[in-house]
Amino acid sequence: MKSPAAAAAVLATQLAFASAYKLAQDFSGNNFFNGWDFFNGYDYSQSGDAMYLNQSAATSAQLAYVDSNTGHAIVKVDNTTNVPWNYKRNSVEIYTQDFYPIGSVFIADFAHLPYGCSVWPAFWTRGASWPAQGEIDIIETVNLMGYNQMALHTTAGCTHTTPADQVGASGETNCNATIGSGCTVAEKKANSFGEGFASAGGGVFATQFDVSGIYIWFWSRPDVPSSISSSNDTIDPSSWGAPSAAYPSSSCDISNYFGPQQLVMDINLCGQWANSTYSQTCGNGDCYLNSVINAGSPTYDNAYFEVSYVRVFTADNATVTTPSGSSSVGAGATGTHSGSSASQTAGSGSSSGADALVAGWAWAAGALVVAMYFGN
Ligand SMILES: *[C@@H]1O[C@H](CO)[C@@H](O)[C@H](O)[C@H]1NC(C)=O
Ligand SMILES: *[C@@H]1O[C@H](CO)[C@@H](O)[C@H](O)[C@H]1NC(C)=O
Ligand SMILES: *[C@@H]1O[C@H](CO)[C@@H](O)[C@H](O)[C@H]1NC(C)=O
Ligand SMILES: *[C@@H]1O[C@H](CO)[C@@H](O)[C@H](O)[C@H]1NC(C)=O
Ligand SMILES: *[C@@H]1O[C@H](CO)[C@@H](O)[C@H](O)[C@H]1NC(C)=O
Ligand SMILES: *[C@@H]1O[C@H](CO)[C@@H](O)[C@H](O)[C@H]1NC(C)=O
Repeated sequence: MKSPAAAAAVLATQLAFASAYKLAQDFSGNNFFNGWDFFNGYDYSQSGDAMYLNQSAATSAQLAYVDSNTGHAIVKVDNTTNVPWNYKRNSVEIYTQDFYPIGSVFIADFAHLPYGCSVWPAFWTRGASWPAQGEIDIIETVNLMGYNQMALHTTAGCTHTTPADQVGASGETNCNATIGSGCTVAEKKANSFGEGFASAGGGVFATQFDVSGIYIWFWSRPDVPSSISSSNDTIDPSSWGAPSAAYPSSSCDISNYFGPQQLVMDINLCGQWANSTYSQTCGNGDCYLNSVINAGSPTYDNAYFEVSYVRVFTADNATVTTPSGSSSVGAGATGTHSGSSASQTAGSGSSSGADALVAGWAWAAGALVVAMYFGN
């Protein structure tokens, strides 16, 4: 049996450990796109109307680039093409080659988030197999919704117990992936999305992926803690106050429901969520017919991410894993991971078809995309 002093010493060690996160990966400036892959093809799982371009096509179409004036990365929907009926509109989905384990903190600083009728942006994470290794939706909104909605998607058995000090409002509390929304939390702080987010100068989203739970913070630009804006090599979440969304392990054992996560940034169009809620903020009519086809401007003039940086911080014992053959970040990378090849295979399979709205595709391949991608 431990003496109280010994127990206190152990606790202090754990707290000190828990607050020490070191920079493992910095996606910013001219190197922003290093370490991300581009999904190529349609989004079958959500019946979306975006055609995700490969890296060379997205780069030459100026849908993915680093702005030389600001040093910010731009990821956007095509707003210059007149899209005829029955065709999809070009967009971008990128995902990190690395998978980040429990013991990671993700910080993302944006000057602008995509919005507009039919626009369904997301900044999220997923394990190598879905839903077995979980999904964390950090930023997700549709159309002209005025706020961000966070969520987890897992296998059955994980539920959301809301801590008293959580800032956001819990919605669905069952994280079972068969429930389309996952277990949701609506942001209650002002300017978390849309025109308000941009007018305030953007903001920062932080996610702590920990054995004790998953915690998501949002700060509009004027409220970003100085510990984040002034430090780029270590991070200490213990001073950030109550998170917007808090999913404690007490009702969802994170180690059991989540594997290492890769980061994903995409802009879908219409699809299950944006289409079914289109009339709530965009008036009567069909999402695809009213927004996607014909001129891209002004509908898609605000359909872009402007990213100052995405940084990953890891605890000392957290090991970043990478696909085989890729160089790794951090000292402890293992260099083997087969998971990411699945989405690449699915993507290249889907790129062979014509750009038709309704394209035939083998169900087996479609199921693979469903397994990898469930953004709602
Ligand atoms: C990228 O997509 C473009 C347009 O579909 C295609 O012409 C090109 O071959 C693709 N490049 C790669 C490397 O797959
Ligand atoms: C999860 O969803 C499946 C399929 O709808 C259902 O059979 C199961 O009972 C659900 N489990 C929980 C714990 O919600
Ligand atoms: C961190 O910030 C310092 C001071 O602004 C800067 O000199 C340095 O280049 C930054 N490092 C990274 C990795 O961004
Ligand atoms: C989009 O929503 C409309 C109205 O609810 C519905 O009639 C239509 O079938 C939906 N389209 C798709 C592709 O889901
Ligand atoms: C597309 O949107 C950008 C802003 O994102 C705007 O500067 C540009 O003028 C738009 N293009 C057209 C053709 O309107
Ligand atoms: C990292 O070390 C801490 C302190 O020993 C421990 O509580 C935690 O479970 C470890 N995390 C992992 C992913 O091994």
